[in-house]
Amino acid sequence: MLLRGIISTPLPPSLRLHSPIHPRNVTVSSQTQSPIAANYPLSITDESLDSRGFTFRRSADGLNLDHLNTIFVAVGFPRRDTEKIKVALEHTESLIWVEYRKTKKPVAFARATGDGVFNAIIWDVVVDPTFQGIGLGKAVIERLIKEVLEKGICNIALYSEPKVLGFYRPLGFVADPDGIRGMVYSTKKHKNKNI
Ligand SMILES: CC(C)(COP(=O)(O)OP(=O)(O)OC[C@H]1O[C@@H](n2cnc3c(N)ncnc32)[C@H](O)[C@@H]1OP(=O)(O)O)[C@@H](O)C(=O)NCCC(=O)NCCS
Repeated sequence: MLLRGIISTPLPPSLRLHSPIHPRNVTVSSQTQSPIAANYPLSITDESLDSRGFTFRRSADGLNLDHLNTIFVAVGFPRRDTEKIKVALEHTESLIWVEYRKTKKPVAFARATGDGVFNAIIWDVVVDPTFQGIGLGKAVIERLIKEVLEKGICNIALYSEPKVLGFYRPLGFVADPDGIRGMVYSTKKHKNKNI
């Protein structure tokens, strides 16, 4: 799905597979910040969530990867090698997670990878099942989009499971814009072809 209204032509390169090699710690001048980013609405303020015991974090500092893995598993994602998660986070453009201060544990997480200027793809959107349905998922995605837009990045894409299309649509994402389809390299299909 692509974020509606900020899609530039030609075909969004964010739908293409990226090389796994990304420059680390890319910084982009905020001079390119669009009015869309400046005016991007947040449905709930940091202060409001803070008063309910939740703190937004915008770097991997203090993020316990075992706890993150526990959430992945709890929502049905595969458990991942924490060393590999660490590397993935080092190659991540923007990340947001929510700490529940009472337990000091992460309860919501999302991240975006990208080339630092044109394209970003959102990954690993999860909310601890105990904390789902209270607005944390929406709050995290809104902040991630805002942060990416503030860097001047206009093509924002993600892969959505069918059951969560309804979560992403009100956040501005649209499937198959102008008939454009995402394609994913299939090792299974490729193997079959060579047999
Ligand atoms: C999908 C997920 C991130 C949503 O997080 P959440 O914190 O429970 O969602 P929120 O409470 O912020 O909900 C925000 C809005 O989306 C709606 N919503 C939430 N999940 C939805 C779903 N699966 N389908 C349709 N709408 C949904 C809510 O009703 C709410 O609507 P409102 O703003 O009108 O009140 C969370 O359920 C989750 O972690 N799921 C398992 C992992 C997953 O599927 N991740 C996405 C991979 S593509």
